[in-house]
Amino acid sequence: MALCTPTHYAKLGNLSNGRSTISRNSTRQGQRSVIVRMASPDVSTFKPYEEGELERPRWTGETPLSRVVGALISFKPLYSVMKFGARQALISTAEKTNIPWRQMTKELLESEVYKELERVQNLEIVYPDYYLNPFHAYDEGNLSWLAAAEAEAATMSITIRAIPDASSVDEAFEIVRGNWLRAIDKHLQQYCGNSTVRDVLDIGCSVGVSTKFLADKFPSANVTGLDLSPYFLAVAQFKQRNGPKREKQIKWVHANGENTGLPSSSFDLVSIAYVLHECPAKATVNLLKEAFRLLRPGGTIAITDNSPKSKKLQSTEPFLDEYYLLDLEDAMRQAGFTHVETVLTDPRHRTVTGTVPR
Ligand SMILES: C[S@@+](CC[C@H](N)C(=O)[O-])C[C@H]1O[C@@H](n2cnc3c(N)ncnc32)[C@H](O)[C@@H]1O
Repeated sequence: MALCTPTHYAKLGNLSNGRSTISRNSTRQGQRSVIVRMASPDVSTFKPYEEGELERPRWTGETPLSRVVGALISFKPLYSVMKFGARQALISTAEKTNIPWRQMTKELLESEVYKELERVQNLEIVYPDYYLNPFHAYDEGNLSWLAAAEAEAATMSITIRAIPDASSVDEAFEIVRGNWLRAIDKHLQQYCGNSTVRDVLDIGCSVGVSTKFLADKFPSANVTGLDLSPYFLAVAQFKQRNGPKREKQIKWVHANGENTGLPSSSFDLVSIAYVLHECPAKATVNLLKEAFRLLRPGGTIAITDNSPKSKKLQSTEPFLDEYYLLDLEDAMRQAGFTHVETVLTDPRHRTVTGTVPR
């Protein structure tokens, strides 16, 4: 069965409320336009990718294949080889698709980014155990300068891998991030009427890629990016300080999304983008409860992450099995959310939205 069937191709004007969010590169044909595989920029006619039957990857759960994958991953020398292989594959895919991975990394590591650490770091933080595992081939997981310096190139690479026939990274971003924002828009229009989005929280913001898309989408909102890695936040803050000025600066907060310490009912939109596949199920449940607490009545949660329908082994992360086995929609309802809806926003990723009842 096909994983999903693309709808038709259509030209997309821009991703935000009347503003273009990312620079356009020329397409293969040399035109300054972007071809986006989706129905229409008009959210009222938004058509998601068609869904097939819900299937988990065969290597998750209690199957013989999952036991083999589990055994391979727990055998440290072999896992190191797998990690090394996964990392090399990412870098070489990136550079083949014109993402200057090593150049981007070098520039950051040779910059003044280090000064941002003490400005952003919360020394009181207690890291959850799961967070101290190696991730993405970095022995210190997300708690390292190398992981932080490579994060944006890695995001670009993963995006182009999701849309392999895109002619540029920008085009892949237009599809992956554009459809995610459109799913949020659709949910807001359907369930929040005309209420204005004043405060946005991006939990697990990493180096701020998702946060910048949200800030462009909601230019009058106060946008906060929150993450457990002070290194990632230092990069986000450094890029903001040295990047194009925006009217409303994004605020970066070093905290655990499971227990942020931020005031209750203080946000209209909480986004959790590409975070949950890195988390054990217990942390996911805590993140959902915390998002529910932080949202105002009528507020919206938007989660985007790997679709359980993808049969591709997407990475060597330690909690993928738990991620695929958790019924996310059910967990969201149990946390109190209503209007829980899922759409496949690109061939690999789903966006799940929900509302806090009034
Ligand atoms: C793949 S990155 C997210 C990327 C980003 N949201 C985007 O869409 O470009 C996952 C992030 O989740 C963060 N994270 C994981 N567990 C967290 C938690 N409990 N609280 C806050 N951040 C967490 C990690 O530090 C990492 O930066």
